[in-house]
Amino acid sequence: MLTKTRQSWEISENSITPENIYLDRRNITKSILLGSIGLTNLTSLMAGKAFASGANPEIQSFINSFIRNPKYILDRQITPEKYSTTYNNYYEFGSNKNIWRRAQKLKTRPWTIQIDGMVENEFSINIEDLFKKVDFEERLYRHRCVEAWSMAVPWIGFPMHQLIKLAKPTFDAKYVVMETILADRSIMPGLRQSWYPWPYTESITLEEAQNELSFLVTGMYGKELPTQNGAPLRLAIPWKYGFKSIKSIVRFTFTKERKKSFWESLAPNEYGFWANVNPDVSHPRWSQKTEWKIGGGKYDRVPTMLFNGYGEYVSHLYANIKDESLYR
Ligand code: MTE
Repeated sequence: MLTKTRQSWEISENSITPENIYLDRRNITKSILLGSIGLTNLTSLMAGKAFASGANPEIQSFINSFIRNPKYILDRQITPEKYSTTYNNYYEFGSNKNIWRRAQKLKTRPWTIQIDGMVENEFSINIEDLFKKVDFEERLYRHRCVEAWSMAVPWIGFPMHQLIKLAKPTFDAKYVVMETILADRSIMPGLRQSWYPWPYTESITLEEAQNELSFLVTGMYGKELPTQNGAPLRLAIPWKYGFKSIKSIVRFTFTKERKKSFWESLAPNEYGFWANVNPDVSHPRWSQKTEWKIGGGKYDRVPTMLFNGYGEYVSHLYANIKDESLYR
């Protein structure tokens, strides 16, 4: 992945919009207050419904049904939306960070999800029908790119294990392979770069997919997910480097064998299968010890955490894996 140059919006940490202002802006209904469980942080005290105007009324109505899950809170301020929606990696639209305008051309309706491979019955489902079968919630997750920048995002979506339950994988299935839509090259000009192994694919183990943290996302900041962030459905697996969190998914394939994904086929030594965040395992071309928070200034760095701080949820998944590079 390309390294970045300093951007005009890289402001100092103390200039970031405080989270309470973000919350006010969203016109949140304080429908549920969790003060009784003794949490002090405003983030953890509030859950509710957002009534932001989404592009698609039907999906917005699903999004409006979420409540914030107080279990997944942050140690830092939420990244202001103007940064997390304008500094993106989405190579189908180009290999720079500034693809958000171009990405608006992607049509996200109608949208069909294909479920196939080692499942009881292969099927495809219209995304609105899928959304009727799952329970939405909002989660505040850290999001750490392998390029050593990070964000903190209020995602809206549903736990991936709900999709696995609908898919009914067979006993032998061990991996879930996900695939991004291939649109016309006039819409996704990055596809003209034929040395990339399109379509973008990613895979994780079935056990990882069933972990409570694995989250399928369809909204952020109380609104429908913008196309540049992976509308209408993307993955958020916060203990792994961001390239594993595939965008605009059209297919989930259950397999017995591990398949090489997009970045792994290009540079296996740099972007491996496991890609768990670890400050002590450097990328071959840079250190992973620290990260800079988008919007916070490139030189205002914070220490990176093992598993991006989510070890209590996931470290057991790797306890018996030997002779593999778990952190790259
Ligand atoms: N998914 C697709 N289809 N194409 C991509 O180029 N980039 C990945 C991941 N998912 C990518 C993708 C990388 S490298 C990162 S860091 C995250 O998306 C960035 O997500 P964000 O733009 O929402 O921050």
